[in-house]
Amino acid sequence: MSMFVKQTWYMAGWSADLSQDAPLGRSIAGELLVLFRDSEGRASAIQDRCPHRGVQLSLGKVLPAGLECGYHGMVFAGDGRCVKIPGQDSIPYRANVRRYPVEERDSMIWVWLGAAEDADPALIVDYPWHNQSDQWPHREGYFHFGCGFEMLVDNIMDLSHLGWVHARTIGGNPDQHAEAVMNVERTDRGVRFTRWLLNSTPPPSYSKVVSFAGNIDRWIELELVAPGVIMQYNGGVDVSQDAYNGGSRDGGFNWRILHVLVPETADTCHYFTSVSNGFRQDEPEVTDKLLADVHDTILEDKVICENQQRNLQEQPEPPLMDINSDQARVLFRWHLARLLKAENQETVAA
Ligand code: FES
Ligand SMILES: [Fe+2]
Repeated sequence: MSMFVKQTWYMAGWSADLSQDAPLGRSIAGELLVLFRDSEGRASAIQDRCPHRGVQLSLGKVLPAGLECGYHGMVFAGDGRCVKIPGQDSIPYRANVRRYPVEERDSMIWVWLGAAEDADPALIVDYPWHNQSDQWPHREGYFHFGCGFEMLVDNIMDLSHLGWVHARTIGGNPDQHAEAVMNVERTDRGVRFTRWLLNSTPPPSYSKVVSFAGNIDRWIELELVAPGVIMQYNGGVDVSQDAYNGGSRDGGFNWRILHVLVPETADTCHYFTSVSNGFRQDEPEVTDKLLADVHDTILEDKVICENQQRNLQEQPEPPLMDINSDQARVLFRWHLARLLKAENQETVAA
């Protein structure tokens, strides 16, 4: 029984993380992978373990022929085939390593941990905004969190914490957050979630970059694709625009945030994030500022989530309870449990 969903594409890194000449070791859902590029720049991923003496291949070097082990120089091609063993001509089958299907698109590298024949690239979440640098210039970030990835998804799917945890940044008034107009719906692959804060005070990170006449109508739209991709579209415009009732969302503040939450071990995870600037596209310093704000916000969440992880390990009882604002989070957990159950049943059947 795996505790992780394996039949899925996990983000392994930003395209920019993987250079032409150095391998990148990444542990995902309990498996250790090494990524590298071939001489044409194509990314591949294989198990991060040399079949000879077991050292991690990510300590090695990228050569035109493939990845060279840093211990005794065996070389592996992107498909996991061993192509060279120093000092001998014949290469036994056992010298090959497991390869993982890899897809690179929208500035991201995705790996499939399930059976290779099931890897369907159509299942990868599309994020076209990364390719639209005129309309949506973006910045990329990465964080490592000492908590299970589920806790981090919970955190983003229950934004009622904004008024408390993020008062300095994207927060605003706690009561206004608790009173937000929410709409939560299930989708085939997760949850869609919309939240409007009507007639509310612009939070510090908005008013720093836009001068509003007074109160604003703010929206947050979130789409979760299980297990851990969350696409967020946020903005705020002057109340006079009546955006909630279909009025214009132009002007004001307008951006997209991508959160890709990837399990590493049961109690650690990777957090990839990007911000895309949809309102002052010609000003790179504004895009930088958005990333800096998200960065601060994420560090605020890190304190909470890591505390929660430790505390629940020390004090697992009594069971936790849900409140009204947990709707989207509960749907996420339900969806995740369903995915895991289906997969574990399939494994048992096989
Ligand atoms: S451990 Fe890799 S070649 Fe010996
Ligand atoms: Fe948060």
